[in-house]
Amino acid sequence: MDPTVGPLPTGIDVDYLVRDDELHRSIYTDPAIFDLEMDRIFSRTWVFVGHESEIPTPGDYKTTWIGRQPVILSRAEDGTLHCLFNRCRHRAASVCQAETGTANFFRCAYHGWTYRNSGQLTGVPFAQSYPKGFTKSELGLVPVPRLESYRGFVFASLARDVADLKQHLAAAREYVDIFIECSPNHQVYVRHGAHKVAYDGNWKLQLENGTDGYHPAFTHKSVAEIHERRIGGKPGSGMAAYRRKTDSVSRGLGNGHAMLDQRGATGTSYIDRLLASPGGSQTIEKLRRERPVDEVDDMCRRAAGHGFNLTIFPNLLLIGVQIRILRPIAVNRTEVRLYPTMLGGLPDELNAMRLRYHEEFFGPAGFGSPDDIEMFDRAQTGLQVSACDWLVVSRGLDTERVEDGVHTGELWDETPVREHYRTWKHLMRQA
Ligand code: FES
Ligand SMILES: [Fe+2]
Repeated sequence: MDPTVGPLPTGIDVDYLVRDDELHRSIYTDPAIFDLEMDRIFSRTWVFVGHESEIPTPGDYKTTWIGRQPVILSRAEDGTLHCLFNRCRHRAASVCQAETGTANFFRCAYHGWTYRNSGQLTGVPFAQSYPKGFTKSELGLVPVPRLESYRGFVFASLARDVADLKQHLAAAREYVDIFIECSPNHQVYVRHGAHKVAYDGNWKLQLENGTDGYHPAFTHKSVAEIHERRIGGKPGSGMAAYRRKTDSVSRGLGNGHAMLDQRGATGTSYIDRLLASPGGSQTIEKLRRERPVDEVDDMCRRAAGHGFNLTIFPNLLLIGVQIRILRPIAVNRTEVRLYPTMLGGLPDELNAMRLRYHEEFFGPAGFGSPDDIEMFDRAQTGLQVSACDWLVVSRGLDTERVEDGVHTGELWDETPVREHYRTWKHLMRQA
């Protein structure tokens, strides 16, 4: 039997801790619950490990994590993808230290064992001193049991018996398709670097925030006001429009995935944000002088993105023009990597605008992400208060609609949070 599956440890009652309308603070603060999450969530479901465009040519690799376990995603000489545990078969040292690179071999720096980028052990210094029965062919880097790619998005699972990836993506697949099909030739590129942020808080705070439609009007008020000034709106008009976004919804898509869908919204749209990004309106004016207006409008719509935020449980977020990966480190420590994406088939100027928009809102000195990170730190601070055990997540509970397993609420409802925790509870108790 898989050692990670069994009765819940004494004292952890997930039905008590996670309810439809409230959450117990210990799910963010208890190290024993964090350990269990690493075993029962990050070791039992699909975890996003990278995009194929990050390692386009044979020999390319990136290092990343599945929960707390270090892995290498590599492209072998024959073009195949491999996900290998980053752990030397000799005495456990990690064999690859760089975040990205190109190498046909990984040589462990400790005693020199050398592996092909597809995992086979090829070199053991002074191998004649090992006893009879020492078999190099049995000592390759260990592959992660499951590896699948959906249209360039690569996921791996430590559980051999996990359902196939398409089944896991469920209703979220349609939105991954839309994200990809913003590109005229359906090519998304994730190779323009990333920046990392780390905060002193639980990983689920970032998971919840990615599809939290309640906070922007408050946490991001200042950046909305700057955008309003740049695109010539009346002060406060952008936020007022945001509050009137009656066509926008939040959704729980099943399997823990969730979204904020603002595609039908009026007010501050992604195109406005592109226009408001540094140099945005000059770039669009230049393109309009050079090309037919309809063509430029279509390209701008594509460059501006899809108009939704999507969370693929447990560690991937597609937000605006970026993808974002969560890495839980400890119960109160999380790293987040943010990757701007470029679209194939668009002029360089429009991809440059995507990058400027990404930097402006999400960059290390941006107007948006640092505000969110500050909220995660504040939440983890508040979670230390023992006089107050419960967090309220009931917004929209009485009014959300359920159809074919998809829960739909207003933009600012807590429908996405409840979706995450239905799957969290299911996986934690392995029902
Ligand atoms: S630990 Fe890798 S060669 Fe010894
Ligand atoms: Fe935010």
